[in-house]
Amino acid sequence: MPHLVLHVTGARPNFPKCAPVLEALAERGVEQLLVHTGQHYDDAMSDVFFRQLGIPRPDVNLGVGSGSHGAQTAAIMTALEPLFEERRPDMVVVYGDVNSTVAATLVAVKMGIPVAHVEAGLRSFDMSMPEEVNRLVTDRLSNLLLTTSVDAVAHLGNEGVDPARIHFVGNPMIDTLLRNLDRFDAGTARDRFGVTTPYIAATLHRPGNVDRHEDVVELVQAVHRVADQAPVVIPLHPRGRGRLESAGLLDHGGVHVVEPLGYLEFMGLVRGAAAVVTDSGGVQEETTILGVPCLTLRPNTERPVTITHGTNRLVTRHTLADEVRRTLAAGRLDTWPVPPLWDGRAGERIADVVLGALAG
Ligand code: UD1
Ligand code: UDP
Repeated sequence: MPHLVLHVTGARPNFPKCAPVLEALAERGVEQLLVHTGQHYDDAMSDVFFRQLGIPRPDVNLGVGSGSHGAQTAAIMTALEPLFEERRPDMVVVYGDVNSTVAATLVAVKMGIPVAHVEAGLRSFDMSMPEEVNRLVTDRLSNLLLTTSVDAVAHLGNEGVDPARIHFVGNPMIDTLLRNLDRFDAGTARDRFGVTTPYIAATLHRPGNVDRHEDVVELVQAVHRVADQAPVVIPLHPRGRGRLESAGLLDHGGVHVVEPLGYLEFMGLVRGAAAVVTDSGGVQEETTILGVPCLTLRPNTERPVTITHGTNRLVTRHTLADEVRRTLAAGRLDTWPVPPLWDGRAGERIADVVLGALAG
């Protein structure tokens, strides 16, 4: 009987990661089922990625929507269990560190279905981040740990994981970026937002930045000090939008807040930016490959390779404006190192590891 591989996706960062894996497994003739949990559901947070990246329409959308961590995770688990029961996949593939990832892993493991975790081993060592909890649980339970960087391999080793389960495959998010590079148009982004160069692109959505009013007030002041120097375009994630706007984010003429952008429009905006200010995981990686200076507004990163091999620096609300000033003065780097195996072929390696495990 042919093998069935079931992929669970659900939130925005999952989509650019699953695209090359689905494609590589399809090329190898594997029967696949794509499940969307519905964790993200706005067109701009979900469907636009499927259209732009040619990801097949999900076979099943669980439509769970938003909720507290417990409610959302439980809703995903409750909806997945009968589906796994009915379809009996030979392998479940999960991506990244969102609630959909950990929920699917828990259900699959308890039913005896092997799990492959794409982007295993990342650690911020910050248990106040919901993603860190999701990463630890998912990695502890997964059978195949597919890693994007050498530090991730080391973390898993330090946690006592059997090396036979760890596969250093590279970064599928970067497969998607390299495949679509010709479609990222900085000029279109500039015209659309009516900004001149140099401009700054920013994204903000981490609970540690946008959930508490006191933090948000300071954050808005910091963004205004950046906008004193250059226009700032912010495709704003729905989380925290209300809090940021009521704290006066829009009260500076240099701040351009727009809806979340489609992948191609967003990457065009990033490509043309003099610098990016962000708390996103994926954006730290994308700027590393594009060579765009990235100022990450966080006390830590689970992606240190973007600092050692990329253009990323950690900043605080208090250091941000000075770091932007320095970055604008220095301009873009001419050359920079690229992390090992961020070469556009991670999807193929992942497919080969999954097929090897199914055959074994
Ligand atoms: C989730 C992930 C986070 C990831 C982020 C990427 C978890 C625990 N967090 O955070 O790791 O970095 O996605 O974007 O899984 N909302 C909408 N429309 C949508 C989706 C969400 O308006 O399509 C709003 C809702 O008010 C919702 C809030 O955004 O309550 C937060 O959504 P949720 O999926 O719970 O977490 P994110 O902050 O998006
Ligand atoms: N992204 C996008 N439009 C936007 C913001 C982000 O297409 O307006 C893409 C971008 O490729 C990014 C990915 O969505 O890497 C995931 O971003 P997000 O910050 O939501 O999640 P994280 O990586 O922090 O979990």
